[in-house]
Amino acid sequence: MNAKIGIYFGTDTGRTRRVAKQIAQKLGERAATPLNINRVSVEQFLAHEVLILGTPTYGDGELPGLSAGLALESWEEFLPRLQGRDMAGKTVALFGLGEQEKYGGEFVDGLILLHDAVLACGARVIGAWPAEGYRFKASQALIDGRFVGLALDQVSQTALSEDRIDAWLAQLDGELKS
Ligand SMILES: Cc1cc2nc3c(=O)[nH]c(=O)nc-3n(C[C@H](O)[C@H](O)[C@H](O)COP(=O)(O)O)c2cc1C
Repeated sequence: MNAKIGIYFGTDTGRTRRVAKQIAQKLGERAATPLNINRVSVEQFLAHEVLILGTPTYGDGELPGLSAGLALESWEEFLPRLQGRDMAGKTVALFGLGEQEKYGGEFVDGLILLHDAVLACGARVIGAWPAEGYRFKASQALIDGRFVGLALDQVSQTALSEDRIDAWLAQLDGELKS
């Protein structure tokens, strides 16, 4: 068992890695070093009781991976390996990067794919985030009007991200205690 919070991300151009590192820095001792999901085994992943998972959205509202045109494997290739594994008792929080102006019809859609995959394994998902303050047309990542994880736009709302991350981490603290 790994007592630290596991932080795993997918990325192409590095923004999600940078946010993962920022989150790890804010969590300090409690967090393991963030790792790209393309170099993580399922066993390593499942060793954590609490996980924070980050993803950008690529393609047409897809997870990063080979079929979205990335050069390297990512969440698309990792999630099938997780299928059928038991995540009961584990808690997962999600963050997703997207661009609401350019991809406003599928803003941070990748979040829902991560959400559904870990939920199917029996994990508890925390960290739903309000959709107020964003301007997009549609997102698959909404449940009851809230994103299933923290939505970040590092292109048109970069200046808002740090406060959002701080508020979200404070929210996670509360949800982890309940
Ligand atoms: C080809 C392409 C497709 C994209 N598709 C979406 C999308 O469907 N929804 C969205 O919110 N953002 C989309 N984005 C924006 C990326 O998710 C965003 O730029 C993100 O910050 C990239 O993260 P990364 O640097 O970790 O790879 C797309 C970007 C590119 C280049």
